Amino acid sequence: MPRHLVALLLLAFPLCTQATATGVIPQPERIEAGRGSFALGPNVRIVAPADRRAQEIAAFLRDGIREDSGIALRIGAATRQPRIELRTDPSVQGEEAYRLTVTPQRVEIASADDRGLFWGVQTLRQLLPPGHHATLAIAAVRIDDAPRYAWRGVMLDAARHFIPVALVKQQIDLLSRYKLNVLHWHLTDDQGWRIEIRKYPRLTSVGAWRTEADGSRSGGFYTRQDIRDIVEYARQRNVMIVPEIEMPGHASAAVAAYPSLSCPQQPIVVPATWGVFTDIYCAGDEASFTFLHDVLSEVAELFPAPYIHIGGDEVPKQQWAQSASSQQRMRDEHLAGVDALQSWFVQRIQRDLEARGKTLVGWDEILEGGADRNAIVEMWRGDAEAAKALANGNRLIVAGPFYLDTPIEELTTQDIYRINPFASPAFAGHQDQVLGAEAPLWSEYVTPRNLEAMLYPRVIALAERLWNPDANDYADFQQRLRTQYPWLDAQHIAYGPEDRDLVDYKLDYNPLQHRWRVRAARGFDDIALHYTVDGSEPTSQSPAFGDVLDRYVPATLKIAPFRHGVPYLPSQTFQSVDNKALGKPINYLTAPDPHYAGTATQLVDGVIGDDDFNDGLWVGWRGSDLDATLDLQPVTPFHTIQMRFLQQSGSWALLPRRVTFAVSDDGKTWRTLQSTPIAVDPMDLRAMIRTVRFEAATPVTARYLRVTAQNYGVLPPGHEGAGKPAHLFTDEILVQ
Ligand code: ACM
Repeated sequence: MPRHLVALLLLAFPLCTQATATGVIPQPERIEAGRGSFALGPNVRIVAPADRRAQEIAAFLRDGIREDSGIALRIGAATRQPRIELRTDPSVQGEEAYRLTVTPQRVEIASADDRGLFWGVQTLRQLLPPGHHATLAIAAVRIDDAPRYAWRGVMLDAARHFIPVALVKQQIDLLSRYKLNVLHWHLTDDQGWRIEIRKYPRLTSVGAWRTEADGSRSGGFYTRQDIRDIVEYARQRNVMIVPEIEMPGHASAAVAAYPSLSCPQQPIVVPATWGVFTDIYCAGDEASFTFLHDVLSEVAELFPAPYIHIGGDEVPKQQWAQSASSQQRMRDEHLAGVDALQSWFVQRIQRDLEARGKTLVGWDEILEGGADRNAIVEMWRGDAEAAKALANGNRLIVAGPFYLDTPIEELTTQDIYRINPFASPAFAGHQDQVLGAEAPLWSEYVTPRNLEAMLYPRVIALAERLWNPDANDYADFQQRLRTQYPWLDAQHIAYGPEDRDLVDYKLDYNPLQHRWRVRAARGFDDIALHYTVDGSEPTSQSPAFGDVLDRYVPATLKIAPFRHGVPYLPSQTFQSVDNKALGKPINYLTAPDPHYAGTATQLVDGVIGDDDFNDGLWVGWRGSDLDATLDLQPVTPFHTIQMRFLQQSGSWALLPRRVTFAVSDDGKTWRTLQSTPIAVDPMDLRAMIRTVRFEAATPVTARYLRVTAQNYGVLPPGHEGAGKPAHLFTDEILVQ
């Protein structure tokens, strides 16, 4: 609503004595306290216009009041009883705007459209005091409110880890409570295809399931009925669902189901590791477009939103470059190269969508090679891409600064609250093209267990930032946020800490005490860390510790955080092994990559990692070799040396080409014990761990041990990272 109009309306309203400090989030544009209060009891009627949506909103209010306060109201015609009246009022100006008035006589929510009416109801629900009551008092107030940005969203990635239907619905409830109006649903990716498509059943019978590194199967998908049910649930709550069907990249699960969709047409499995994969839809084959047309037809039918997101990000184009059909396509369409081919691909899909009245949304890579200006660009890489999109005339959604897969400690609730991407010079003069923003939650490391902790309260801060950027007072926001927690607790929402990770582990080995110590920094004081030492999964009955756990004997230690008896995260394993390298001085010729270094002594702390290089136990080198010298102090006899190396080629981590063990008594002249070549296949995308072992029949006696592992070097043509240096990862040097 324009400012001058608000001022005029306020003049007509009885003078207020004081402003009420309500706990409403997002902070309404304008709140004026009135005198007295409205008594809400079972005698109150809800009165609403007769149209279907208004009646539905009235029922939503009735149910919400009953659930939150225990008071059962009836919806009925206006009588002399006190009432909550929902009213259509064209004088309330602005998209999604509403006016909420509470006086001792009645409550009125007025709006020009049903969206505003619904948001007014959500505000009223937040005005109710917490807890169940026979009657309760709502302080007199007048609220005039409207959002600043039209697109206020969260992206959930159901592809990397499936999100069960009930959990999706719970997130819709929360988005709606805080007046976020878009759920961007990332439904397909390399590691899983999550939406039933009638015409292509293998998408879900094959593409929705993967075999994890430990041999277990995981996955899941939404049936058409699940989708209809969720879309309807969201509609009732003012939330639009925008489906994302990724193309032309991030398509491995679809290619696993139908290998003919990729140019090489080779069978692949659904990958169980993270990264960017080379199997993409073939731009040269008409069959790809027939497939995508059919899929989008079913998607368009299931989702009423006028938008379909087609991804478009992170497209490795080696397969196109090498395919005869794609080369032919480039000649036929006079395209200069594979970037132009991607642009042609996206624009062809865009025409297909436009023919059914849908607007294409894509990640900012859709600008590469030229984008049609009617597409909506979702910026994730930075202001340069935003500027490019705006200069091209595209409408824009900002996502980059709001990546919620970032650890909470690195992107706190306060950070989210304070980030103002729209102030960047890239946006100057283009505010009318900026639709709003979204917070994406990529789910490589997010499962149903920690999904809500990664979302909230950060999403609540985003909601206020997008609805009312003028609020801008974090201390005030934080006070209001704390009044929300009892409600979130009552709903069993597993929200996380505001500014710290749920738990961060640090492990060290103390050679004097022969002691492994796990220190845990907990995001909530009431997180209990349950653990086992026999390799089994911890339960809430397992022994627990708070900040520190000391272990004096080697074990397979598994730790999982619980809060209120509920597990919050997958467990983490620390397997400690007694050996002669433990705690010995170690020197590196080239220091490890600081992102994957842990502590300087991490390769000699006796602890080996899980199968993921990101678990904090792996030490990595980017482009360079591992060359480490251990002082075994004093001269020590041993039989075996063992090291593990990891390959996750999609993340550019490759096994070393050669691993060499050498010994010395003076640290100057070296005797090679073993030099092991490894045949590395950089195109093998499976997660693998290779153990390199030296075994002597009679003990070797030496003071110094030197291990070298030759980095694969530059990633080869055909690899997604071609021309870039490979990573080399190892987790421990074990000497026995
Ligand atoms: C993205 O994060 N790849 C859009």
